[in-house]
Amino acid sequence: MTAQPDIRALFAQTPDRFARFSRYRDGLLLDISKTGIDDAAFEKLLERAKGARIAERIADMFDGKHINTTENRAVLHTACRAGKDAPQDVRDTLARMHTFTADVHSGKHTGYTGKPIRHVINIGIGGSHAGPQLVAQALSCVAPPLLDVHFVSNVEGSDLARALGAVDIEATIFVIASKSFTTPETMLNARIARQRIIDHYQGDENSIAAHCVALSTQTEKVAAFGIAPENTFPFADWVGGRFSAWSAIGLSIMLAVGGRTFDRWLAGAHAMDQHFRTADLRDNLPVLLALAGIWHRNDCGYGALAVIPYHSSLARLPAWLQQLDMESNGKAVTHAGATVTHATGPVVFGEPGTDSQHTFFQWLHQSPDIVPVEFIGCANATAGTHEQHTMLLANMLAQSQSLMLGHTNTAEPHKNFTGNRPSITIMLDALTPYHLGQLMALYEHKIFVQGIIWDINSFDQFGVELGKVMAARLQNDLSTGQPSVDHDGSTLGLLGHITAQCKATN
Ligand code: F6P
Repeated sequence: MTAQPDIRALFAQTPDRFARFSRYRDGLLLDISKTGIDDAAFEKLLERAKGARIAERIADMFDGKHINTTENRAVLHTACRAGKDAPQDVRDTLARMHTFTADVHSGKHTGYTGKPIRHVINIGIGGSHAGPQLVAQALSCVAPPLLDVHFVSNVEGSDLARALGAVDIEATIFVIASKSFTTPETMLNARIARQRIIDHYQGDENSIAAHCVALSTQTEKVAAFGIAPENTFPFADWVGGRFSAWSAIGLSIMLAVGGRTFDRWLAGAHAMDQHFRTADLRDNLPVLLALAGIWHRNDCGYGALAVIPYHSSLARLPAWLQQLDMESNGKAVTHAGATVTHATGPVVFGEPGTDSQHTFFQWLHQSPDIVPVEFIGCANATAGTHEQHTMLLANMLAQSQSLMLGHTNTAEPHKNFTGNRPSITIMLDALTPYHLGQLMALYEHKIFVQGIIWDINSFDQFGVELGKVMAARLQNDLSTGQPSVDHDGSTLGLLGHITAQCKATN
């Protein structure tokens, strides 16, 4: 493990360090100067990337090679945002999404009784939830929402109940978002919603067509659920779940903010794809962000990453990134099936600034553990006064500065700040649809590059499967109230407790 050099000394030795270790292109600045990476470390990191044949692997992805080897699939979410170069079926679905959205907004598509649609309830989980929710919320500050959009992901009953309680069913579109159309939580919530619509219309199943649409790769399963092909927006299995907001899965975003805003968001991501595909490695923003992460994880041994957006509308960015990064790179097996001998993806967490400064920043400044921070700011405000904006950005800069500089107080050790804590800053010119698209694609490609260097498959997620199998069996035990006896002692004890208490409160 390389000891983290003193970042303060690096700035003293190299006055133009910011210029050397930051890049600005197309309205997005990446600054990795507040890390311990010096010229020699940078060259070594680039060599590591070249050794992993990064350029070839990037080309493989865009060329549609089956780089998701365990599932024998291409990884082509980038095709969903390729504009006129997108495959015909992608363009067809996008055109249908635009038409449907325009029809809903104009009042051409109404509820079953002719009421204009005012509400949307998106039912989905994981990638069928996190990306759409992030983007719909983030862009609602630049494109005021055209409809009242609710996101229901949890099978915990109050999630759906709250949304149902807030809408007029006769003015609501239910969007059932599931790539596989088998995810148990989503399918149970979808069945409950479907029954609620039918009950509302006194058993008239014809009402479903006016109120339910589905987004899935599994069109036969959608049809079996009772949603007609004209209300189904398909996409291909080469769009991974956590990369799927750009596909039909983004319909709730479009319904929320409109087709033009959605297209600008796609365009921003496409611009980042083009940059990623063509830029030299030393100027390639996703590659640089990935290499800084490799440095922190493998050279410095830091096990976590804090991501702090200084914009309330990006509140869901850390949650989206948690799935993107941890489901992609939380792996221990190489492409050849061997156990890795190096650390892979970090724990990712975060909350918006300045709120998080008043919660876990104490730990970031004074814990014996060091966690690199990625600060995300916007040079221009989207709302509020100039004073609010300057206070916000001053806080962001103060945090990265104080993490690095620290403050010596030997007389009062509890007030001592060791400093030399690394951070990265990403500045968008403003939170626009275009820059949000760039930012999200930047992170997607960062994670891909890290997966290449770690020789892991970033595109499968077998780690989520075991719990699903166990849950199915336990659900049977809980619903019959008669646990099978071959569970472990703790689980058996908990089952007995739940069964007794559940009866007690009924
Ligand atoms: O948690 C596992 C997972 O398969 C994710 O990868 C995916 O985004 C999520 O479940 C939802 O899957 P689906 O869209 O198929 O319902």
